[in-house]
Amino acid sequence: MKIRTVFVGLVAATFSAIALAQAPIVIKFSHVVAADTPKGKASEFFAKKAAELTKGKVKVEVYANSALYKDKEEMEALQLGAVQMLAPSLAKFGPLGVKEFEAFDLPYIFDNTAELHKITQGPVGASLLAKLEPKGIKGLAFWDNGFKSFSANKPLKTPADFKGLKMRIQSSKVLESQMRALGALPQVMAFSEVYQALQTGVVDGTENPHSNLYTQKMHEVQKHMTLTEHGYLGYAVITNKKFWDGLPGDVRGQLEQAMKEATVFANGIAKQENDGALEKIKASGKTQVYTPTAAERNAIKKALVKTHTDMESRIGKEAIQAIYKETGFDPSKL
Ligand code: LMR
Repeated sequence: MKIRTVFVGLVAATFSAIALAQAPIVIKFSHVVAADTPKGKASEFFAKKAAELTKGKVKVEVYANSALYKDKEEMEALQLGAVQMLAPSLAKFGPLGVKEFEAFDLPYIFDNTAELHKITQGPVGASLLAKLEPKGIKGLAFWDNGFKSFSANKPLKTPADFKGLKMRIQSSKVLESQMRALGALPQVMAFSEVYQALQTGVVDGTENPHSNLYTQKMHEVQKHMTLTEHGYLGYAVITNKKFWDGLPGDVRGQLEQAMKEATVFANGIAKQENDGALEKIKASGKTQVYTPTAAERNAIKKALVKTHTDMESRIGKEAIQAIYKETGFDPSKL
């Protein structure tokens, strides 16, 4: 009897040891937007690729729509190791102390995606990601979303139309300065709260790429939208550095490959996702979509360019100049 008990115990222990050895490494990937967006789709793509390339050794669990954490909490959760991966907007790294990321928020700094990619897919981007390491964060990639439109319940054609409007922004001092340059009152708010704030009039308007506006149904509570394309919104995919460095080397390499492929995927779909969302917003008939004239666009540009000089001391002249140098942007020419 005793021998049998010992034998059964041994068998059970062996099986649980095997089970443990085979238990996948779980990566919780938390984000705040809908699954049906460039970031939502890219994170699902990464999860699939990671499972495939690691042959099931890694299981990426994607939590969309702030289901796990809101903006500010998710950064803390990553540093504490409660989640392993995030892709926050580049406008959300200032509170972490990495203010250089706010350069991406400077109005009109990128004329198009090709210019943006010179930064995000080149050496300047790599050096920006490296600045996260002292914070215990490893930057893995930049993923595109797109260029932003302004929305409100009144037409927004000239800088004067913004005067006194409460505008929701992400937690970026550059966006704060941008809204003030228009005479608006910026209000920092978590993404998950924006729809309700617009619906109840806590804020009057906002800005976002169309994929975000549409999937959060913001167009249902905003009567007007102007296609200003005045600024860029995109993401840095980040992980907890200690977690990443602690992965077996082969697994880490496979995940790097999965991230490479997910980045190509993300940046390949972002524009069409945003164009599709704009068409759906137009088709809904709930928001009047306005394309500014060249003169109107210029007037808004002129009003916003002061943000570049106002924010130079915060972001750092060097960081801003590094971008200007790559893209050829010259604020004095606006
Ligand atoms: C926002 O808060 O408006 C965006 O950063 C949301 C997102 O992640 O795209």
